[in-house]
Amino acid sequence: MSFPVGIGKIYLIGLMGAGKSTIGKILADALKWQLLDIDQEIEKFAGSDIPTIFDEQGEDGFREYESQVLMESAALNAAIISCGGGIITRPENVKYLKDHLTIWLDISPEEAAARLEHSNHRPLLNECKDTIKKLQEILDNRHVGYSEAASLRINAGEQSPEVIASEILEKLESIHV
Ligand code: S3P
Repeated sequence: MSFPVGIGKIYLIGLMGAGKSTIGKILADALKWQLLDIDQEIEKFAGSDIPTIFDEQGEDGFREYESQVLMESAALNAAIISCGGGIITRPENVKYLKDHLTIWLDISPEEAAARLEHSNHRPLLNECKDTIKKLQEILDNRHVGYSEAASLRINAGEQSPEVIASEILEKLESIHV
């Protein structure tokens, strides 16, 4: 893991439930930067919500939108970009993220499952009897991608989003964002 130079934006990656959107909002407010939530941009662009996109266009259709929004984010400056958990499933996205400051909010499947208990907005967890097991499988498949894409890995479990955001800001100070 190394820090890319010329930082004007920060990407947040990690498993569903890691707190990317919540922590992204705290960071954006603290830095007075804008927040771009890739999932929300996809929904605006496609004109339907994520479960509907998965239903009608399959996961591949969703991943097309996701890569497109990611590549378009290249034009942004002073922005926190919160990515969907599966952003690193496409090698071109990993390649892109490696060239930018990308923070992996790392969380255990147990903690992620607890946070997602009341969510019905994650198609990959639909009709899943054992959410922890499913999230563990997803993490096992994605571990290398998260690790390759990330410049910085933060333990996003246990602590509140505010504490995690402060930890990130402290680290960023030392690299002069
Ligand atoms: C996905 C994560 C979701 C969303 C979609 C697919 C994934 O975003 O992009 O349901 O593949 O892990 P969050 O990580 O924000 O839940």
